[in-house]
Amino acid sequence: MRFEIITIFPEIFDSYFNESIIRRAQTKKKIKIKIHDLRKFTSDRHKTVDDKPYGGGPGMILKVEPIAKALKKIKRQKKSRIILLTPKGKHFTQKVAQTYTKYKHLILICGHYEGFDERVRKMVDEEISIGQYVLTGGEIPAMVVLDAVTRLLPGVLGHQHSVQDETYTKDLDYIEYPQYTRPAKFNKWSVPKILLSGNHREIAEWRKKKVKRRRGE
Ligand code: ADE
Repeated sequence: MRFEIITIFPEIFDSYFNESIIRRAQTKKKIKIKIHDLRKFTSDRHKTVDDKPYGGGPGMILKVEPIAKALKKIKRQKKSRIILLTPKGKHFTQKVAQTYTKYKHLILICGHYEGFDERVRKMVDEEISIGQYVLTGGEIPAMVVLDAVTRLLPGVLGHQHSVQDETYTKDLDYIEYPQYTRPAKFNKWSVPKILLSGNHREIAEWRKKKVKRRRGE
């Protein structure tokens, strides 16, 4: 899958995308990531990406032209989706992440400042929020989306069943059974004996019993 991210802070992504599973996904050619610096799509000397809102009001908003130019350069491929990260968008969930695995090309636009020119909305397929809180920009949300989608792609995680069995994947209310690793005793807390028994049938039974359903929050 190809990810392209439009941002005014291209360097924010360097460290996260160059570690661990996301790094490995790139070296294994499961994903390709391209970061586009929005300032490169400006046409004035000061590389202006934002401006005051018409009609007045606080703060600055992202201008429409640089985003339009960036999108034009990126060119949509078959099976692509343009996603705008904004606190006003549809909530990002595990189900949404799963639907994104069907695309070959995700284009993520990171907002900043007080928002963006309303006309940006005309150029996107979807608006996504990662939760009901307001961040300073769409960069962390873009990383969240890329991370959640990448780990679902076949061949990215070592064991494919680790994505099938875990919390949230079966349905939103499914909470995985508890897991432990060494040591068997830590302070006053011991690992349940059954897990040390080597009896796989009984362990499977125990795990089934321990699966929980989330109650309404
Ligand atoms: N930009 C600022 N806050 C955001 C959020 N919660 N989700 C997506 N984009 C955002």
